[in-house]
Amino acid sequence: MVPLVSRSASVLLLAILGGCTGEITGAVGSGETGGAGTAGVGGSGTDVTNWIPGERGDPNAVAVLPLRVLTRSEYDNTISLVFGEEYGLSVASLRAASVLPGETYDLSGFLSVGEISEVNVLRYMDAAKTVAGAVSSSLPRLFGCDLAATPNADACVRAFVESFGELLYRRPLVAAEVDEHLAFYQHERTTLGRDANGAALQLLEAMLQSPYFLYRWEQGFKVVERKGDAAKLNPYQVASRLSFFLWGSGPDRALLAQAKAGTLATSEQVAEAARRMLESPRAERALESFHEQWLGLSHLDSLFKDEKRFPQWNDELRSSMKDEVQAFTRHVILKGDGAVSSLLGAPYSFVNASLASVYGISGVQGSELRQVQLDPRERAGLLTMPALLASASEASVANPFKRGKLILEKLLCQKLEPPPVVPPLPTPDQVDPKPQRQVLETMTSVAPCSACHVSLNPLGFGLGNFDAIGKFQTLDDAGFPVDASGTLPGGAAFSGPSELSMALTSSEEVRTCITKQWFRFGFGRAESPSDAFSLDGAYTAFQATDFNIRELLVAFVTTRSFLHRQIETGEVVE
Ligand code: HEC
Repeated sequence: MVPLVSRSASVLLLAILGGCTGEITGAVGSGETGGAGTAGVGGSGTDVTNWIPGERGDPNAVAVLPLRVLTRSEYDNTISLVFGEEYGLSVASLRAASVLPGETYDLSGFLSVGEISEVNVLRYMDAAKTVAGAVSSSLPRLFGCDLAATPNADACVRAFVESFGELLYRRPLVAAEVDEHLAFYQHERTTLGRDANGAALQLLEAMLQSPYFLYRWEQGFKVVERKGDAAKLNPYQVASRLSFFLWGSGPDRALLAQAKAGTLATSEQVAEAARRMLESPRAERALESFHEQWLGLSHLDSLFKDEKRFPQWNDELRSSMKDEVQAFTRHVILKGDGAVSSLLGAPYSFVNASLASVYGISGVQGSELRQVQLDPRERAGLLTMPALLASASEASVANPFKRGKLILEKLLCQKLEPPPVVPPLPTPDQVDPKPQRQVLETMTSVAPCSACHVSLNPLGFGLGNFDAIGKFQTLDDAGFPVDASGTLPGGAAFSGPSELSMALTSSEEVRTCITKQWFRFGFGRAESPSDAFSLDGAYTAFQATDFNIRELLVAFVTTRSFLHRQIETGEVVE
């Protein structure tokens, strides 16, 4: 139990917990990855298990649990859910006013917060002050009484601690904790001589720095059901996993009430809750984080293009490109049929005036995105969107190798060794012009280059019809017709970007990879051999629904890996 006696005690605890995060999360990769030593494509990398559909694994295995710290977006989304505009808090200004610990793309390919150093503890303190400051004028509503005008405010403080403590810590507080929080308030009032509102703000700040808020603490106080090394999560922990996975935030009061009422106990109940949660607008936030991280969309923020060649390139265009991906994936996954075939094959998208100039569509005005039909011979789903095409390009020319890498890593879950020192992309030769594909193929067809380029090239050249900002073109930079034909690693032939996308849509490797990517995002770690049974269960449901991503998400929340955790060595369980 965490004594909340003073500010420094809670800060101290954070530091201690921070130290152990490093160890626990470190275990995710240790011994399971790396060192395959195979040059070129196909090394294990993040693909920790190499799990393939049909491999059922041990139904009783359960993986190591990383202790996760809220990411920036989880922090912001949770604060917004708990306080939000109702109490005068704007997330945009919170974000602008506070810096939280940095995040890195970990082994899983998704963001996580690293070790919590002392500097980071101070950052949490500052962020807590910012939140408290923003809601200070709402104190009477938060506490249910005007503390300064109420002779004995203890009951109000208790009510606040119980009510908001449950939202912030994602579980009801035990009686002793409520007492400790009250004692903290009284200490601020009497010993430190603060006025009632000042003490209340200190209490709120302390709660926002509690490890129970900042960490996704799942060890609980009591293991309800134990089987071997596995403990079944209690209903509050299930609610918490559900909401971080599907909403990108902590649970709301309704979900906590369900946990309390015992209606998050069976797999059916959990699946039903997940379905309802996916109907909520909050699901958009989790989806946004997933796509931003999976596809590396933040790369666009610092992406520059040759002004002479692309005079239309500006901040508005690049942020519209990101918005397009988000609007499209939201539409397909939350409102549409959710199918992988739509995600990678839909002949429509969402554009505004600046995107329309890249697409060559006339008659679209303003900055608002709207749905338009696209030419299915030119465009098909995500992969042919300017955001991805422009990211995997140089400032003035497309980079087929970067595009190939994007497909291999993101859609086929193959990990590439870092390329050796390679020459820059050759610029078209004015004196002796040759088709660009020919030049690049010749250059990379020899050992050791071919070890990687034999897989990269066909995929990358398959997107050869797009220039460095994603405009469709039929001639390459040297003026020769684009040759965008090739075969997938599995052998399926395609000609042009749309056919490439379509071929990927029906590739089992792609479907397996999407399953893994969502797993990694939802579980906050790369999959391990202990997850094979859960992965296979989710994949089977995915397959049975014609690869509907919504159904995949629902299937994940009822897997063994989702509903259990490993009991740590040395953990004391009652
Ligand atoms: C280990 C895999 C691997 C090997 C071996 C390899 N490449 Fe590459 N190459 C890549 C990848 C991946 C990219 C995409 C760019 C990136 O990731 O930075 C790339 C990009 C390039 C580029 C574009 C420049 C750039 O920075 O994007 C050229 C040119 C190139 N490679 C040529 C070669 C040649 C020539 C050889 C042999 C001497 C070679 N490569 C060997 C993986 C490899």
